[in-house]
Amino acid sequence: MSFFFDIVEGMPQGKALDLAEACPLWNSSSTIKGTNNYSDTVGSDIVVITAGFPRKPGMSRNDLLHANANVIKETCIEVANASPNAIIIVVTNPIDVMAQLAWKTTEFSCKRVMGMGGILDASRLTAFLSWELNVSPEDVEALVFGGHGDDMVPLPRFTTVKGIPVTELLPKKKIELLIERTRNGGAEIVSLLKSGSAYYAPAASTFQMIKAVLLDEKRMLPCTAYLNGEYGVKDLYMGVPVILGKEGVEKVTEVKLTKEEKAQFRKSCASVKKLIKRLLI
Ligand code: 2OP
Repeated sequence: MSFFFDIVEGMPQGKALDLAEACPLWNSSSTIKGTNNYSDTVGSDIVVITAGFPRKPGMSRNDLLHANANVIKETCIEVANASPNAIIIVVTNPIDVMAQLAWKTTEFSCKRVMGMGGILDASRLTAFLSWELNVSPEDVEALVFGGHGDDMVPLPRFTTVKGIPVTELLPKKKIELLIERTRNGGAEIVSLLKSGSAYYAPAASTFQMIKAVLLDEKRMLPCTAYLNGEYGVKDLYMGVPVILGKEGVEKVTEVKLTKEEKAQFRKSCASVKKLIKRLLI
């Protein structure tokens, strides 16, 4: 059973009904319901939090900090009461800080609170590379570290096409342009839509995380996870490769970073820490 929750009367019910009516065409026997009451969601295994405000053209994700922090705090208090054993996936921006706030507010184990950011950024870089190289995206593996923000750290060294590093296939300048487009991927869509932000790619990215947890897939995926000393960082939610399974973030994967990659990663951590400070959490 899946529930859509929202505070807007009728909206989750309408969206859930629409999806439920599509299920026969997908040979899916899922039950999807919409509700405005947390009591209907009691005992949820996985809670995906998308509550909050999307960016407007010209805004950065960080501009949503205070408005969305209030929403996340209220939502997490309700979620912790209704589903104390749930695994939480935060999608609300700025994701890294909102994941840290969700963890603090719920007081859940850090393994059970994570953010969706890196999978989306990696998928964007994969799409851009596959279009540039005219190769199936199935054969492209991109890796993005760091916060889900302007300081994200796409890693060409770990980005390959059938195992061949992209640095062998494209000139440095071209790779940098595609990385820049990835960095601005969300803003590019917001500026086209004028109102609202990306929807399908974030949803598909979040689905990868839900599936890995639900099916205990032990997927290695770039997610926003709690660092407790890994990469020399403590007490901070940051985008790193993790193993996702039924326990949630089952392991943070550490890889050796070059001096330059380390500097970019530290810069990304510092940006997130600045936001955390502004929230006094
Ligand atoms: C994005 O990058 C909404 O943060 C999301 O599009």
